[in-house]
Amino acid sequence: MKHPSKPFFSSLSSRSSSSFLVLLLFIIPVAVVIGFLSFYSPPFSLESPSELLEAASAPTPAPLISAEPRETSEAASPFSSGENRAELSPPPTVITTSKRNSRLNKIEARLARARSSIREAARVRNLSTSTQEDPDYVPHGPLYRNPNAFYRSYLEMERLFKIYVYEEGEPPMFHDGPCTSIYSTEGRFIHEMEKGKLYRTRNPEEALVYFLPLSVVRMVHYLHVPGAHHIDGIGLAVADYVDIIANRHPFWNRSQGSDHFMLSCHDWGPRTSSFVPHLFHNSIRVLCNANTSEGFNPSKDAPFPEIHLLTGDIKGLIGGLPPSRRSVLAFFAGRLHGHIRYLLLEQWKDRDQDVQVYDQLPPKVSYDSKLRQSRFCLCPSGYEVASPRVVEAIYAECVPVLISDGYVPPFSDVLNWKSFSVQVEVKDIPNIKTILMGISQRRYLRLYSRVKQVQRHFLLNGPPKRFDVFHMIVHSVWLRRLNVQLLDVENSDV
Ligand SMILES: *[C@@H]1O[C@H](CO)[C@@H](O)[C@H](O)[C@H]1NC(C)=O
Ligand SMILES: *[C@@H]1O[C@H](CO)[C@@H](O)[C@H](O)[C@H]1NC(C)=O
Ligand SMILES: *[C@@H]1O[C@H](CO)[C@@H](O)[C@H](O)[C@H]1NC(C)=O
Repeated sequence: MKHPSKPFFSSLSSRSSSSFLVLLLFIIPVAVVIGFLSFYSPPFSLESPSELLEAASAPTPAPLISAEPRETSEAASPFSSGENRAELSPPPTVITTSKRNSRLNKIEARLARARSSIREAARVRNLSTSTQEDPDYVPHGPLYRNPNAFYRSYLEMERLFKIYVYEEGEPPMFHDGPCTSIYSTEGRFIHEMEKGKLYRTRNPEEALVYFLPLSVVRMVHYLHVPGAHHIDGIGLAVADYVDIIANRHPFWNRSQGSDHFMLSCHDWGPRTSSFVPHLFHNSIRVLCNANTSEGFNPSKDAPFPEIHLLTGDIKGLIGGLPPSRRSVLAFFAGRLHGHIRYLLLEQWKDRDQDVQVYDQLPPKVSYDSKLRQSRFCLCPSGYEVASPRVVEAIYAECVPVLISDGYVPPFSDVLNWKSFSVQVEVKDIPNIKTILMGISQRRYLRLYSRVKQVQRHFLLNGPPKRFDVFHMIVHSVWLRRLNVQLLDVENSDV
């Protein structure tokens, strides 16, 4: 069996290639073997699996012989640069027999070439030698973990990536979703896939990944009994759907879900997926609620941003005052949701002219203009780790200050969040003012200009434009698909 000679994701990190983790090994005895999954070293500490994870892991079928996921070394702080990460070698592999499937081998050969092309680009650190002129954009600068690798990967994605969208299921819970509210990115992505212009293939045989077009937000709306604490109705609907898919098509069983993905912006996305162990443990789950304490695994799951849309359009949300006219040091307005906001409001509400924290804005004070007038915008987790404030801040060109535990921010596989945001640990909430005052004007201006630069990756365009949020989400899925290798054993040279 062949697999990438070294963990793939390590090459997208701007750090030395030795700082990587090999996380998982799956052996699938159906038609394929899945090679090891590996990943760039996540820039955030991974916490121990939650009860949810353990509950969901119970009934894995016997044939799944897998090495235990390796424990990652705990990074010192959620946003530490991770120099102290452990390097692990790939676990041993076991080969099982399978049927001939040369189409799959062709797909995998294409992916193997893409992997090595991206690795090669990652090694060349000066852009001029390896990138073509691009009329749209060429990623550059410290905003990216490795701009050259990202760019090459993006081009390979545009060239090769094909997504099959299952046709089973009826709207409004399938093939449809909300396009306004804080969950808008869920509906917008589903709609974009359904319209079928970008990346979509109607031929499942040539697909690289398979999309389960379900909307958890819609399921909560139609299936959840208000007030009930369990979400069984929603979980069972998802389990039924996966059953149908697995019975009608060969692809789910072939990889035990590893080349399938779901996407949900609802807080309950993670819990819902736990009703299908292979969905939870193998599939790519694209989630707003990217809480590592709820089993979010950045080596196979992808975070995506919450974007609060009232009208379905981002017009009027973009832009703010230049740095010299931003008179407020830090700003937050929002209700008491969860313990982090409790600490923030308790410490800062009505206390300070520089750190302006409100649970309710005074009449006649506009939320949007406060964002545009502030240098830093506080983005604490609420009931869930993700906050629409992160993108609000980026749109208003206000430097986001992330205050969360166990949150993996969107696109952190390619974006270097430290270069355009500030991270404050929950225990440092009392020191927010000192921390922000300690940022020099020079550093602030750098952060500010990178916020403007990163904005393009968070824009929700209709139709999508290259490098915008839709393409970035697809790119996150593409990278995770590159981490999985499906092998047709009889045709490989083992
Ligand atoms: C870029 O790097 C290559 C070698 O990797 C070198 O030959 C070339 O001169 C460099 N170009 C610039 C502009 O620094
Ligand atoms: C996939 O596996 C399930 C459970 O083992 C089985 O019921 C189903 O028939 C299989 N699907 C196909 C298409 O063979
Ligand atoms: C993250 O998940 C853990 C475990 O379920 C939970 O206790 C914690 O409150 C979550 N964080 C947020 C901000 O919701």
